[in-house]
Amino acid sequence: MIRFLVVVAIVIFSSNTPLRAEGALPWPLVIGHRGASGLMPEHTLEAYTLAIEQGAHFIEPDLVSTRDGVLIARHENELSDTTDVADKFPERKTTRFIDGREMTGWFVEDFTIQEIRTLRATQRLAFRDQSKNGKFGIPTFDEVLALIQRESVVRGRKIGVYPETKHPTYHQSIGLALEEPMLEALGRARLTRRSDWVFIQSFEVDNLRALNEMTDVRIVQLLGFGVEAPFDQEVRGTRLTYEKMITNVGLSEIATYADGIGPWKVLILPRDREGNPFPATDLISRAHKLGLLVHAYTYRDEARYLIKPYKNDPMAEYQRFFSLGLDGVFTDFPYTAVRALP
Ligand code: G3P
Ligand code: CA
Repeated sequence: MIRFLVVVAIVIFSSNTPLRAEGALPWPLVIGHRGASGLMPEHTLEAYTLAIEQGAHFIEPDLVSTRDGVLIARHENELSDTTDVADKFPERKTTRFIDGREMTGWFVEDFTIQEIRTLRATQRLAFRDQSKNGKFGIPTFDEVLALIQRESVVRGRKIGVYPETKHPTYHQSIGLALEEPMLEALGRARLTRRSDWVFIQSFEVDNLRALNEMTDVRIVQLLGFGVEAPFDQEVRGTRLTYEKMITNVGLSEIATYADGIGPWKVLILPRDREGNPFPATDLISRAHKLGLLVHAYTYRDEARYLIKPYKNDPMAEYQRFFSLGLDGVFTDFPYTAVRALP
């Protein structure tokens, strides 16, 4: 009976309920970065579910493509840091150039979805809990979207999705462009309107400009640091760097195709080489003046990742950023971020 009611609720929810039509976002947003990846192997349905249980408003899948064009959730297209691929397919190790760098390993684009389904996720970081290694599979983007729809119904609150296109220029170059399949999956999940709880993100620029013409859902320009360039801009030789993108001119340009920026948190609270803090920058207020939301990355409970004044006190770090007007945080520990909400 309960199963029947859940199915009925999913059908109603997926059709056109007022809840789904509502576009207002919580403030600030808690985005489960690769799920609750501080506690579970990242980018698994179990890590996403835990993030939702802990109160995350959005979950964040990074997307790469299999050889047969299926989008799966992984932070990079090399699989050995977060799966048991080396044990299962030792003979498939190879070398590729990814974003201008030579890499040796096992690459998603060499595997079919059937092969990916035989893999199990592992914890990337040695200092985090390893006890869940080998227990969970690698989800497709469709499965992630099904999860948020199911969880939205079961929990009676809307859950958003914040997909990131990983290595878009590279995927384009090997005939496995990410953008259309991503929009098709969102379309199948009926997440196509600006008011839907979707943000598409990328560290590259040109694919976001193109996506802005292809979809109404919100777009966020991720920002790296300093003289580093988005890879597509490096390829085109435009000389655009992240440093230039956070000037007023750069932000104005971003505002022509995006709804927000996703800066590294140090671009808001900078530090010297020893980690001693400088005063906060005015990046948030300058972005807000242009109507851009600001969602910063990545917040983690472990002392090694906290900004120096907040060592051992992640709550204080969140509160400092929220007090500066930050609109959202990508966090590996949604439980802590939710407790720090204003
Ligand atoms: O997408 C926001 C944040 O996730 C960017 O960093 O490298 O974890 O994808 P990364
Ligand atoms: Ca990401």
